[in-house]
Order: sequence, then structure tokens, then C-alpha cells
Amino acid sequence: MSDKKKLVFSGVQPTGNLHLGNLLGAIKNFVSLQKEMECIYCVVDLHAITVMQDPKKLKENILETTASFLASGLDSDKSIIFNQSSVSGHAELAWILNCVARLGWLNRMTQFKDKAGSDKEKASVGLYIYPNLMAADILLYKATHVPVGADQKQHLELCRDIAQKFNNDFSCENFFPLPEPLIQKNISRVMSLRDGTKKMSKSEDSDYSRINLKDTADEISKKVKKAKTDSLPIPETEKELEKRLEALNLLNIYSEITNKSLKEVLKEMSGKDFSYFKNKLSEVLVDSVCPIGKKIKELMSDKVYLQKVLIKGKEKASKKAEENLKKIREIVGLL
Ligand code: TYM
Repeated sequence: MSDKKKLVFSGVQPTGNLHLGNLLGAIKNFVSLQKEMECIYCVVDLHAITVMQDPKKLKENILETTASFLASGLDSDKSIIFNQSSVSGHAELAWILNCVARLGWLNRMTQFKDKAGSDKEKASVGLYIYPNLMAADILLYKATHVPVGADQKQHLELCRDIAQKFNNDFSCENFFPLPEPLIQKNISRVMSLRDGTKKMSKSEDSDYSRINLKDTADEISKKVKKAKTDSLPIPETEKELEKRLEALNLLNIYSEITNKSLKEVLKEMSGKDFSYFKNKLSEVLVDSVCPIGKKIKELMSDKVYLQKVLIKGKEKASKKAEENLKKIREIVGLL
């Protein structure tokens, strides 16, 4: 890999309200990577339609996800920011990769099992082959690094298998690089505020389970106050947190936002009760999340600007995609 140019690709679905999990698990990393590498960040609207979306809302959500990228610190002069459906190469390569990936591989995907629920027969075919589209997103640009939360790890492994099989099947060794996942060490999975065994997610029914980037200071404080904890005080060591999932999650969030290690946080907080800690947590969350929410709302009042950002990104992304697709068509034998 060392002789190859490093290229970062990642995507976020425009399915409404981004939350603290998206920010700490992925977008924060997007922002730091844009300082050191070439980066492409995509609003993955074709992924969103694998489940039914209200068309009007979807348009709005594509712009809002773009606004959330910018408000969190992405710079459209440094990174390529665009929406997936505007570069048709994603769909074309996805089809080619549908013919490379094996049914058995897709059958192992846990996210499909979670999302399809008990009645799999009623899930869309798109939802089933979603991981192939995700592989196409990454391989279309021959990306080498993919910043994601831990929930996407299995999809990334599949992407590497698909890339490897393509390279073998068509005898083009090293044509597709095997992309490396970049997963945050300390907070790869932000958990629900109501249940420490579930990840924080847009689809969870209760809004009290997550901190949305657009939440007001008041909403953040209320949610933190109501967050599930236990009756014990904050312990001295990480070991004592092993079975206290909700407590661990809140302390991890505090550690990530304040840029302190969990050890340092425990030193600061041990022996204190949760009402003291929760006040501190609310303060740091309000200070770091509210300015992002405010900026998202400001940006959403200038949709023409947001559209211009996406068009600029689309032009740059299309150029790269078309160059690679030309070679891919040739390798596969398409005229
Ligand atoms: P999506 O839209 O569900 O989430 C966007 C990013 O946020 C991360 N994330 C979390 N991280 C930590 N804790 C959480 N609770 C949490 N919730 C979400 C996700 O891991 C992700 O990095 N399939 C992808 C989108 C995608 C993609 C791609 C990603 C499509 N093509 C190509 C990378 C490369 C998804 O649904 O992410």
C-alpha cells in the first residue's frame, strides 16, 4: 500500500437528524483527516432509499446532511463533498460488484438481519445488496482509508473481500486497493442514552435515546439528566465499569468531548455521584454540540449555497469516477 496514493472515502445516509454517534464515531474523524489526506465525503442518498423515504423530506435531508458536514468543520475547498446519486458511476459499479459478490457473503451481514427484522421476505432487494453499493462507493475512487463507526466494520470486511475477488477473477492484481477501516479507538460505538447495549441511532423510537446535533441546550440538559445510570458512585478504575454499560458510555462521551483519556476522567470524577457528573457532561455537550446545531440551521437558510457545494463536489468526484470506470469496463470486457 505504501507506494499507492492515500485516499479517504466515507459516507453518511441522509435519513434525518444526525446525532452524537455520527459526530463522535465518524464525522469528527472526517474533519481531522481532511488536514492530512485527500478526502471524499458523500451524502449516500441511494443507500437511504433502500427503505421507503418521503421524497420531499429526502431532498431536505440531503441538504441538511451536507449542512451538518460543513457545520462540523468539513471544508468544501479541502474535501470533495457531494451526493451519491449525482455520480451515476456508483450505481454502475454496484451492478458489476453484484456480479462479483457471493450470496453467502451477503447472507452473513448482521445489519441486514437487524434492519429487515423478522419478515425478511418484505425487505427491499436494495436493502439486501446495500453492502455491494457501499463497496462500489469506496472502490469507485480506489479509496485506501475509510473512517467509520464500529457498526460498519463488517461491511468494510466485505468490501475488502469483493475487491480481492475482483482482482483475482480478472487477473488484475492490486487493481483495487484493499481499503482499511479507520475506527475511533476510544469511542467506536456511542450507545443509546436509554440502553447501554444498543447503539445510539436515528431509528430508535425515543428521542431521549440520543443527542441530535440540532438539539437546543435545554433539550441536551434534559436528555442527559434522564439518561440511564445506576445507583453506584463513579468508580476509580476502568475495570469496575465493565458491567456498568450506561455509566461507561456517558464517561466515554465526556472523555471524547473533553479530549481526556478515560483514566484522567475517572481520576477527576471518581467518588462523585451521577448528578454532579451529569451537570458537567451537559455543560461540555452544550458547548460543543450547540454551535454545530446553530450553524446547521444557518446553512439551511441558504439552500442555493448548499446546492452549489454539492455541484462543485459532484464535478470533481465525477472526473475521478469516470477515469476509474473506464479501466473497470475494460477489465470486465464491456465495450
Ligand atoms: P450511517 O449513515 O448509518 O452512519 C454514518 C456514520 O456514523 C457512524 N455511526 C456511529 N458511530 C458510533 N456510534 C454510533 N452510535 C453511530 N451511529 C452511526 C457510522 O458507523 C458511519 O460511519 N453504510 C453507511 C454509509 C455508507 C458508507 C459508504 C460509509 C455508505 N457507503 C462507504 C463508508 C464508506 C451507513 O449507513 O452509515
